[in-house]
Amino acid sequence: MAGSTRIDDFMDEAKRAADEILDTTSSGKKILVVSHMDADGISAAGIMGKALFRAGADFCVRIERWMDENVVREALLYGGGEALLVFTDMGSGYLDILGMNVGNRRIIILDHHQPIGEPKESFIHVNPHLHGIDGAREISSAGISYLVAKFMSNSNIDLAHLAIIGALGDLQDKYEDRRLGGVNEIIVSDAVKSGYISVETDLLFFGRETRPIHKALAYTTGPYIPGISGEEDKSLAFLNSLNIELKRNDRWRALRDLSQEEKRKLFSALHDYLISQGYRSDVALSLLGTVYVLVKEEPWTPLRDAREFALLLNATGRTGASGLGVAICMGDRGRSYEEALRILEEYRQTITKYLRWLGENPERIEEWENIYVLHGEREIDEKVISTVSTIISTSLPKPEKPLIAYSLIPNERAIKVSARTNDSIARMGLNLGEIIRVAAERCSGIGGGHDIAAGAQIPYEQKMMFLKNVNSLVGEYMARLKNIGGKNNVNM
Ligand code: C5P
Ligand code: C5P
Repeated sequence: MAGSTRIDDFMDEAKRAADEILDTTSSGKKILVVSHMDADGISAAGIMGKALFRAGADFCVRIERWMDENVVREALLYGGGEALLVFTDMGSGYLDILGMNVGNRRIIILDHHQPIGEPKESFIHVNPHLHGIDGAREISSAGISYLVAKFMSNSNIDLAHLAIIGALGDLQDKYEDRRLGGVNEIIVSDAVKSGYISVETDLLFFGRETRPIHKALAYTTGPYIPGISGEEDKSLAFLNSLNIELKRNDRWRALRDLSQEEKRKLFSALHDYLISQGYRSDVALSLLGTVYVLVKEEPWTPLRDAREFALLLNATGRTGASGLGVAICMGDRGRSYEEALRILEEYRQTITKYLRWLGENPERIEEWENIYVLHGEREIDEKVISTVSTIISTSLPKPEKPLIAYSLIPNERAIKVSARTNDSIARMGLNLGEIIRVAAERCSGIGGGHDIAAGAQIPYEQKMMFLKNVNSLVGEYMARLKNIGGKNNVNM
């Protein structure tokens, strides 16, 4: 948990942002919220949208793939060039781009990415890293937006569950038993207090509320279970071999219907199976953990489980339908929700298709000296390379080597890069965000992110140069970390 002074300073900054938003609202000036297209960005936008709506603000929400000069240029024009701009889940890594051509415009940045560059004096920059709080693990951008919303009005405490969805979407459940920790813990307790969330320990299958058990097991990709993930019939056979009753009274049973004894039997069989496939015990143990149940949502729907809710938001964002995700966060359970359910199903099938394709084309994942490279090229859709990269990174033979995945961005002669390392390597001091940023800058691209997960856009011609740079930077980083016995402050 964050120490008291650093968290106090961080909270003061969040309050300053809230005051500025309220002042702008009372002056009648427009507000533009610009957010990132993944689950955390969409939850952040939903929280801000709801808080602004309740405050009676004149506002608009925009969701973008990433920050670049075009995004800033267009945002500056909104509202006749007079609006207050609020960037959520983007901005901190690109303070220089944000500072260009803005004059003395007031800009609020609510972001948990590693800050790069200097904010202008007219910026209000709320970022946990500036106060010694780990933005990759202790709070997400939805969490920061929630703290600001709570300073705007205490009644916004009923939005805390959205910040939990954002944090889980960004895989911040890195504490024991896959709990949320750090500042997220305060937010979880707000969500429990307001009666929206119950915290339980269970098997972490996707679809624990909604799906027949064999489907939920087949949809589980964290960890990826070879021969079961994506294979419904094999999953069904596996459960049959354990004599777990799959149907009762002609109805498929979901994970929520299983007795404790049945769950114990299932976990132990999966654990043994993964070990027999060469996985370490901690990978198998990651099947079990803390579950965040949204108790006010209908049982049997994907909105009831916070991780599934995050997947639904990711699906809308990554398929260009982020407006639906924002609407659902703001409370829409009508047509937006129906449409999002359809998109979620397609998204799941797409991911499964790519994972199977990679299984059939193993040469697409190369082992280099210090990294793995996943050549998605034009075969893997650039919009989902991030999700594919996250999943594949959990099942590599040498977990100490980061995974650098990329796909072609259609019509742009550029690649989208999605890099992942594991938590223990990042905690040792390997900063992937820094490595990707430096390599991108050397190759006329832009990039950055967190120590554990980073991304970039690079001109296609520079692809090999970029990958070689990342490979050697990881090598240099690891060598220096070994020399100083691990941890931090390795200057590049
Ligand atoms: O832009 P943003 O910070 O929201 O995105 C973080 C991305 O990094 C997510 O897509 C998440 O899947 C990934 N991530 C990860 N492991 C972590 C934290 C984030 O793979 N520990
Ligand atoms: O796109 P992906 O999920 O792989 O991104 C991983 C992390 O890197 C995210 O937090 C994303 O916001 C960040 N990122 C960045 N700059 C980029 C691309 C991604 O900071 N150019």
